[in-house]
Amino acid sequence: MSRPSAALPPLTGLASACLSWHHDENGTVGPVSTQFDDVYFSRHDGRAETEHVFIHGNDLPRRLAAWTHPRPFVVGESGFGTGLNMLCAWACFETHAPPQARLHLVSTERFPLLRDDLARALSAWPELATRAERLVQQWPEPVAGVHRLLLDERVTLDLHFGDAAERLALLDGQVDAWFLDGFAPAKNPEMWRPELFTALAAASRPGATFATFTCAGIVKRGLAAVGFAWRKAPGYGRKREMLKGEIILPPRNERRQATPWFTPPDVKIPQHVAVIGAGIAGASAAAALARRGIAVTLIDRFDRARLEPTHLQGALYVKLAADTNLQSRFYLAGLLHSRRWLAQVDPQQSLWQPSGVLQLGTSEKEQTRQASFLANHALPESVVRGLDSTAASAAAGIEVKTPALDYPNAGWVKPVELCVHLASTPGVTFQQGEVKALHAVARGWTLTLASGTIIEADQVVIASASEASGYAETAALP
Ligand SMILES: C[S@@+](CC[C@H](N)C(=O)[O-])C[C@H]1O[C@@H](n2cnc3c(N)ncnc32)[C@H](O)[C@@H]1O
Repeated sequence: MSRPSAALPPLTGLASACLSWHHDENGTVGPVSTQFDDVYFSRHDGRAETEHVFIHGNDLPRRLAAWTHPRPFVVGESGFGTGLNMLCAWACFETHAPPQARLHLVSTERFPLLRDDLARALSAWPELATRAERLVQQWPEPVAGVHRLLLDERVTLDLHFGDAAERLALLDGQVDAWFLDGFAPAKNPEMWRPELFTALAAASRPGATFATFTCAGIVKRGLAAVGFAWRKAPGYGRKREMLKGEIILPPRNERRQATPWFTPPDVKIPQHVAVIGAGIAGASAAAALARRGIAVTLIDRFDRARLEPTHLQGALYVKLAADTNLQSRFYLAGLLHSRRWLAQVDPQQSLWQPSGVLQLGTSEKEQTRQASFLANHALPESVVRGLDSTAASAAAGIEVKTPALDYPNAGWVKPVELCVHLASTPGVTFQQGEVKALHAVARGWTLTLASGTIIEADQVVIASASEASGYAETAALP
């Protein structure tokens, strides 16, 4: 992140969507927003509307079938709602895209549905049930910020919780196809404001397309003002017209110009990666690469599978600053992500448990810090809450003499067993040894082990903690 924390939206909990339920024309039950007095999707047939407006409006079946780039195809959206649009994009990707293609979905939502409401809304489409279950299982806490969901090996969903214009202005990435959803402009003019269109244009890749159900003047003018060409197309059901089009000239990305060193290099998919260090960072990087079909050699001087574990238990622990700073945002996002990730890596919970973690206010200074943290952050109680000593004792199951911060969703992991489990991911080969030297060569790197063994790799991940700067090539790193 390149912006000072003062420019970022607050780190806070979000109000959930207020819904009522109606019976649509097919006899299925669908959600209506009581706040916006508008439907989440067509009363006639929500899925058919999504396919018509957003999927075909962006020509996705043809574009995904032709997708041969090493980078993922990126779909962006302005109102996630029930996720129906994104689940349909995922289904379209699976039907049409070649096997090596990847899909990155990016959506924003200011009033996230409650998990049960999400499940209820999506139950109207049994053909999407498996995908809906993946989404519902990982549905994040209603906390402002970015939540990454790994929908499957090839599909990632980044949910940016907060106002669409604010969140998309912070987006560090480029979108190929936009779904402009978010209730009718007449019912939700605040969302369809000029800043939204500016952010859409700034985050558009050259040639990016858009489609939207609405033909409102505010949308046509907003799109045209930032460089999108729009045209009318037949709408779905009772809606006579919709809009679709593409960006003609994406504006210069000022944020990128200000910090060009953050611009990632073009994607070049390696065939073989060497990872030095088989601790949690190295083993999880190795597993993530292997899941993307890349061969990985994971090197460590210790074979953890054969050792008596020395670290029996590690806490999923965050200490958040009393005043929000960039580290707090990162750590909290990390805690919530780790929870979702662990639930996927080990659904049986044999390597971890969400037991909750108490941070005791063991001094007056710490109690004051905890009190001001709570006063400054309106986060959901399911994420963090303050407990007095009686409630803390009840949560801990033993007597606690001080107040505490309770992270009910945090817990513990067995770090060594987790590393061994990750290292057993198909595609990861473990090599015991000590890397003594690292040399850049024409097609990548060579690694020389203490035993004299030489390993060649296209790329190297160094995850050996304090030893990371111990090679001539890395000595200059901080
Ligand atoms: C019509 S629903 C979207 C339907 C959705 N795309 C689907 O597949 O179910 C509109 C969504 O936009 C969200 N929304 C409204 N104003 C917003 C804003 N300013 N920023 C982000 N999301 C907003 C609403 O909470 C709602 O979930």
